[in-house]
Amino acid sequence: MARDGAVYACQSCGAVQTKWSGQCPACQSWNTLVEEVGAKPPGALSTTKATRVRGLQFTGLESETAPPPRLMTGVDEFDRVCGGGVVPGSAILIGGDPGVGKSTLLLQVCASAAQRGVACAYISGEEAVEQIRGRADRMGLAKANVSLAAETSLRDILDGLKRDSFDLVVIDSIQTLWSDAHEAGPGTVTQVRACATELVRLAKKKGVAILLVGHVTKDGQIAGPRVVEHLVDAVLAFEGERGYPFRILRGAKNRFGATDEIGVFEMGDVGLREVKNPSALFLNEGGERAAGAAVFAGIEGSRPVLVEFQALVAPSAYGTPRRAVVGWDSGRLAMVLAVLEARCGLGFGDKDVYLNVAGGLRITEPAADLAAAAALASSALDVALPQDCVVFGELSLSGEVRAVSRMETRLKEAAKLGFGRALGPLAGLPEGGGSLPVAGVARLTDAVRRIG
Ligand code: TYD
Ligand code: MG
Repeated sequence: MARDGAVYACQSCGAVQTKWSGQCPACQSWNTLVEEVGAKPPGALSTTKATRVRGLQFTGLESETAPPPRLMTGVDEFDRVCGGGVVPGSAILIGGDPGVGKSTLLLQVCASAAQRGVACAYISGEEAVEQIRGRADRMGLAKANVSLAAETSLRDILDGLKRDSFDLVVIDSIQTLWSDAHEAGPGTVTQVRACATELVRLAKKKGVAILLVGHVTKDGQIAGPRVVEHLVDAVLAFEGERGYPFRILRGAKNRFGATDEIGVFEMGDVGLREVKNPSALFLNEGGERAAGAAVFAGIEGSRPVLVEFQALVAPSAYGTPRRAVVGWDSGRLAMVLAVLEARCGLGFGDKDVYLNVAGGLRITEPAADLAAAAALASSALDVALPQDCVVFGELSLSGEVRAVSRMETRLKEAAKLGFGRALGPLAGLPEGGGSLPVAGVARLTDAVRRIG
């Protein structure tokens, strides 16, 4: 039985329930309902007087709502993912695993923007001012005119932001803030939502751009960011595989720009370095390309990126063979394996299959299907693909190889990096040939026949 006044907030999706249960009825996550004091159950409207909704005509709005000038931070990879600079008055959530480099990135963004005359504040709830300054010093940013504060009380932060006028404010992180209007502890869904709501309101009212840092873990262990996602204008994910220096900033939601852009950085001793031309970054340099490797000519946002798919197909020692994939979707791997089995006669039933995207990049483009299939077939048949060959193409369940977008851009980049040929879809090849000779295949069997 629920105690009087007690409510239970899901730490994953933020839904509020009046009764505890093992599984959240809203998002079906297990063991995520936690009792929170002071959260209101759905439908509990406050009693403040409602203002009347005003009618507005769309016509005539153009002149009033001309897009505001964007605030360029000078970190180009960041500005591009934001959609060409940060929109004043907007709120952006930057989520990522603890330790991936969110604080480092935003400190650099602040320092760079400050150099361009943008009034920046960096408010940390995690580190003391001396620590932040020490870090800035190590990164060579000590001279940047950024206001630093170590603060976790929302009231103090709001007071400060109302008093001084800033153009860009970083809150690191939203999980450390607490509002004294709620009894729940910092980091709980109630607090995270309340603090984010207030900050977003302030952003809109004062025209300040607010960048909120949110820690996320893959299994959703840390509460918060999910409930903030719909409050903010843009959600950016900062990703990186352990053991690789590369960090990718990816748009997950953006009211002011496309979400397929990525920003590429490299973590070094003195902070993050922008990688302006990432096309060759994810290639395995040097040495022969072994059986099981295929170079995918991909497109990330507006830029071509070449990346190596590495597959290993080995006899399984157990009854249930293993399927492990890094950097690609496991559902997609299952589909490609099924197509290879059903249409090309390759058997994986008693084999372990490992698929890895080199360099720590995560590929989501369907155009990578054929590259993954080529890597898998190459490993299964133990035949290496030609050294100078790139692969792209989408697969259908019937084993057809489909045309993909921007083929000439892919070919041109591959040619620029010294590749000499491509394996791709027969359909949609550039008229009169592209920058590289393409072995066009209509079906996956044709591709496998060429490999084997
Ligand atoms: P940080 O920005 O603190 O991560 P987050 O805010 O996402 O938790 O970055 C932490 C990691 O970055 C830490 O493991 C050390 C590494 N790092 C470098 O390798 N070089 C640097 O110059 C800095 C500042 C950090
Ligand atoms: Mg941090």
